[in-house]
Amino acid sequence: MTNQPRDRWNSRLVFILAAVGSAVGLGNIWRYPHAAFSAGGGAFLIPYFIALLTAGIPLLMLEFGLGHRMQGSAPASYGRAHPKWESLGWWAAMGGLIIAFYYTVILAWVSFYCYELVKMLVTAQDQLPWDSKGGAATYLFNYVLTGDENTKHAENVFAPLNWGALLLNGLMWLAIYVTLRKGAESIGKIIIPTITIPLVLLFILFFTAINLDGSSAGLSYYLSPDWSKMDSWQEVIKVAQGAYGQIFFSLSIGFGTMVAYASFLPKKADINNSAMIAGLTNSGVEFFGGFITFSVLGFLALNNGVFVSDAVEGGFGLALVSYPTTISQLPFDVTGQALIGLAFFGSLFLLGYTSAFSLVEPMVIGIVDKFGLSRVAVLRIFCLFGWVVGIIFCTPGGFTLLDTVDHYLNSYGLLGVGLMQCILVGWVYGPKKLRDHLNHVSERRATWFWDFCIKFFTPTVLILLLSLNAIDDLRFLWSDEGQLYSNYTGQTQLIGVGAFALTIVAAVFFAQRKTNKQGYHDIPEFDYGSK
Ligand code: PHE
Repeated sequence: MTNQPRDRWNSRLVFILAAVGSAVGLGNIWRYPHAAFSAGGGAFLIPYFIALLTAGIPLLMLEFGLGHRMQGSAPASYGRAHPKWESLGWWAAMGGLIIAFYYTVILAWVSFYCYELVKMLVTAQDQLPWDSKGGAATYLFNYVLTGDENTKHAENVFAPLNWGALLLNGLMWLAIYVTLRKGAESIGKIIIPTITIPLVLLFILFFTAINLDGSSAGLSYYLSPDWSKMDSWQEVIKVAQGAYGQIFFSLSIGFGTMVAYASFLPKKADINNSAMIAGLTNSGVEFFGGFITFSVLGFLALNNGVFVSDAVEGGFGLALVSYPTTISQLPFDVTGQALIGLAFFGSLFLLGYTSAFSLVEPMVIGIVDKFGLSRVAVLRIFCLFGWVVGIIFCTPGGFTLLDTVDHYLNSYGLLGVGLMQCILVGWVYGPKKLRDHLNHVSERRATWFWDFCIKFFTPTVLILLLSLNAIDDLRFLWSDEGQLYSNYTGQTQLIGVGAFALTIVAAVFFAQRKTNKQGYHDIPEFDYGSK
């Protein structure tokens, strides 16, 4: 079997944009503000930046470095670092793929908002879509999620189907197919507009938001530290848990994406700087996005006579309820409101889209690298499969399931992969060996501090986080205060845990298959020569 030459990015800029595109996603807009707020506003920023510098960027360098040194997908790269560790790469990639199955459904809902806003503008209606259906929350839970005004979203109810979401989700997978069809080349073609357009839209939203009455109250909530949330060591740990969890998810660490992306870099590539740029840009967008969210919450609080603390909701509540509610109250006519709405949902959609396809790529390139199958054939199967699996999320019970699967994959899968990566590089492969590679190809040098983070500091933090998550989830066993995740039923929990278990089973399965590609297990030669 002849080995095809590896796919390459057109330029370093395209690589960085693709990495930033993966990192900046739904997590930046609806996960970050809540994480920041519930952990004490300004006080959160300190552990957050410590987490970025001690774990986020070092792990990004590790993933970039391994992918680049080994010139392979996550399974290939980890397997080349040590033959027994290939399954870790599959575990990561599989986690990403399962997340993609519902991440695209969320994007389908977001695109439904865009569709309804455009429809409203074109048909010159005088009410925003959610106002015509009795408010933003009713609109989301009894219409967008179910596709039918007479059906409420409810746990464990899997009929009737939400045909609109199903159709939009199909379009999402079609778009992923087109984007990934030619790998780095086709990603490179779409990445510049899909990154720059939402960033420009965020600026528009920023200026609109900070000029709203009440915005300063919201901003002072965001930026002034609430030290009372750090009174005891348990509280400090809780804050750290929030900060590290946010950094990992937001930087797209632990799903094989960054390994795969770095493997498309040419041999000459400044990895350390690229990791620095991607890490700082992602956090910059997040920090900046916080100004929009908290201005909006300040405005909402003032308008409705509540405290900012009561106006804050996390997750879906924030993005799909608080924002639409605010949009209806903006001091513009209904067309202006709809345009701002379109700017918000449009940017959310595009930011999410560049993350969505980056969740699929690790598994695709994993299979292509190992079994030498055609990329297009593998992609077709995954896209079709992704659409079919997504049906379960296009039902009245889909939202609860999605929330649960997301919880287990992020609390254990992502952190588990992060920990194992540290063990692989820190204790098996050798941090010095990878650092030598990084420093050979990079302008900025990594120092002993990087070794220290990968070998001791980050794994310690990860073990702590994993244990804390497990204690939170299992507390119900010994305390009346504990409950299963979100108090959902056993059936829901079982599906969530099952999805997580599936990632492990699949990892072992794929690692045990025989490769039919020559040299799959060989570490590629690297001629450092003159830089
Ligand atoms: N970082 C993305 C976000 O913030 C999610 C993601 C995680 C994407 C892992 C790819 C890989 O939404």
